[in-house]
Amino acid sequence: MSGIRPTGFLHLGNYFGALRNYVRMQDAYTCYFMVADLHALTTLDETKELKQHVRRVLAENIASGLDPDKVALYCQSHVPETAELYLFLNMLAYKGELEKTPTFKDKVRLQPNNVNAGLLTYPVLMAADILLHRATLVPVGKDQEQHLEIARDFAGRFNTRYGRDVFPAPFAFNFGEQLVKVPSLDGAGKMSKSENQMATIYLADDDETIRKKIKKAKTESVADPTAPMPASIENLFQLLQLVCTSDVVSKFRADYEAGAIRYGDMKNELAEGMVAFISPIREKAGQIQHDESYLKKVMEQGAAKARASAAVTIELAKEAIGLIYC
Ligand code: TRP
Repeated sequence: MSGIRPTGFLHLGNYFGALRNYVRMQDAYTCYFMVADLHALTTLDETKELKQHVRRVLAENIASGLDPDKVALYCQSHVPETAELYLFLNMLAYKGELEKTPTFKDKVRLQPNNVNAGLLTYPVLMAADILLHRATLVPVGKDQEQHLEIARDFAGRFNTRYGRDVFPAPFAFNFGEQLVKVPSLDGAGKMSKSENQMATIYLADDDETIRKKIKKAKTESVADPTAPMPASIENLFQLLQLVCTSDVVSKFRADYEAGAIRYGDMKNELAEGMVAFISPIREKAGQIQHDESYLKKVMEQGAAKARASAAVTIELAKEAIGLIYC
């Protein structure tokens, strides 16, 4: 089970942390992937663009290779059982622990005039998304690790409090590999939906924009190639590894170690690798995004699958809590 907030354009971090793994999981597991439109409401003060973003995220999921016939691909708000489980879990969530969550503290800093209760209980809603399907594997990027820890706590707390093993413990999942963090092009932090647009590559970027952004990426000259590699260079190598062959990566590593690397050449390779990787996804998503009747069908079919699974869980949770009276 996993989800992506429709608050802006998806970028390489979303792709390598989430989408790529969704596609790799779809043949081996029963999968629930959703567009977290309710989560988006914690930070949006206007919702005019929501529809566009939801359609784009769905289209990008499918364009990346996800098959809506194999998985449940749905919108969070189409599964009202989510809200019901969220309410149950809120009884187990403590104000103090929610206030300590690093993502909450970040949001308070970013939007001091809108510190709403939805923002505080963001991790509770996310736990509800996951536990609703009694999911165990959650394909997400490294930034979601703490939310997963909270979801695990709630699962355990529910089981202990009500004396039944309703919820298995969910874990962040990346096929046994380390969770992915895609670095930004400015040498600091990660790619992000809204914060550093010139340093982030979006799945919707056209070829020229991709080339331009990579050309501007930060590099620095290195006097001693045996000293630890500066972050900006390390980041470029990480990106190169994502979209170019290992031969290309090895060549530039060897050049670097020999003190003979030409960053212009490296950026050209990176840009062309990136263009070859992104353009087919962008084109396909562009078509799907405007096919309203197809998207409607996908959403309805996804919601039906998700609600069937949710209904079973809600019944188990109510029984455990003692909310069934006859
Ligand atoms: N919090 C996630 C993010 O910002 C999105 C999300 C919402 C999610 N519900 C989820 C991820 C459930 C995994 C599982 O990226």
